[in-house]
Amino acid sequence: MALLPLLITLLFIIFCASSPFVRAAQLISVLSYGARPDGKTDSTKAFAAAWSQACASTQPATISVPKGSFSLGQVRFQGPCKNTAILLRIDGTLVAPSDYKVIGSAQNWLIFEHVSGVTLSGGTLDGQGSGLWSCKNSGKDCPSGATTLSLSNSKNIVISGLHSLNSQLFHIVVNGCRNVRIQGVKITASGTSPNTDGIHVQLSSGVTILNSKIGTGDDCVSVGPGTTNLWIENVVCGPGHGISIGSLGRDLKEPGVQNVTVKTVTFIGTQNGLRIKTWGRPSNGFVKNVLFQHAIMTNVQNPIVIDQNYCPDNKNCPGQASGVKISGVTYQDIHGTSATKVAVRFDCSKRSPCTGIRMENVRLTYNNQPAGASCNNADGTASGFIQPSSCL
Ligand SMILES: *[C@@H]1O[C@H](CO)[C@@H](O)[C@H](O)[C@H]1NC(C)=O
Repeated sequence: MALLPLLITLLFIIFCASSPFVRAAQLISVLSYGARPDGKTDSTKAFAAAWSQACASTQPATISVPKGSFSLGQVRFQGPCKNTAILLRIDGTLVAPSDYKVIGSAQNWLIFEHVSGVTLSGGTLDGQGSGLWSCKNSGKDCPSGATTLSLSNSKNIVISGLHSLNSQLFHIVVNGCRNVRIQGVKITASGTSPNTDGIHVQLSSGVTILNSKIGTGDDCVSVGPGTTNLWIENVVCGPGHGISIGSLGRDLKEPGVQNVTVKTVTFIGTQNGLRIKTWGRPSNGFVKNVLFQHAIMTNVQNPIVIDQNYCPDNKNCPGQASGVKISGVTYQDIHGTSATKVAVRFDCSKRSPCTGIRMENVRLTYNNQPAGASCNNADGTASGFIQPSSCL
């Protein structure tokens, strides 16, 4: 075989592989598939088609959603894909159907599943949930509602600069994922909207939530079973029910929660601040190695709380003792104001008491007076300035 042609071919391949022209992302506009930014035209099929093209491509792809309002039913951004570099760039607003019955019985509105290497940048997601909230708040029989944005069984995901508005149910759910970064997001719903948790994480590892502002009617962030290596930093929460590990221990067999860091967070007028909550039921679940660091409370009803006696309507909680073992939880530099007298409450399980609770530099006041603390079955140490005085 002649060497020269082989050499030239080789050089050509190397050139192509490193050339920015060849590697530049393929640009796919949803408009080219018939999506219309008029707030009326149903653009569901157009989004699905744009996704299919990006997913099937072997080179990086950008799906662009221009300014304007796009009306969408349920969209499944389904993998596995040939592509591991898909950017969904949203400049406009995606709007869910105004009639909550259309997607209210589907579990999700927008769902990414079995994908790897997807970035969602910008955009507003408007779940138009208020109709369903009124239905629920009036005690009628209503569908349970759809989560606005769900990430399921996926890895290497970035969500950046997104605004999620008025979800029917949870705003963002991360389930069964690895390596997810959620940053610079804003989540907004009424303080009286039921079950509109901001970000819920479960069965996932390596999730990071940064620089975000969450105001909603339920937990700002909730952490479910099987969450490990979760990092939450620089989050403002309120209105809402706080940042909550739990509810856990509903099931007898349940994966534990391990390695959670929550730092530099602010709570404004919330029901809870830093909470761990487990059902008063038998379970093999656990919580270990949690660091709560640098938190500011402003008029928070329960700034620091461990509640192991959760049992709504006092039903199905034999003996009322939680099996979930809580150990190694540190509270460091937590200060501000409590809206109730008892600012620190460790109500642990009599079956599996809390161990290794550490408090360092905590200062919480109620009506300009030192607040109170209460402990049940809680063991640990306190150091530095502690107010209310420790009951550990
Ligand atoms: C939790 O963190 C420790 C210390 O960094 C690490 O050794 C351990 O593997 C982590 N646990 C999980 C489940 O990743």
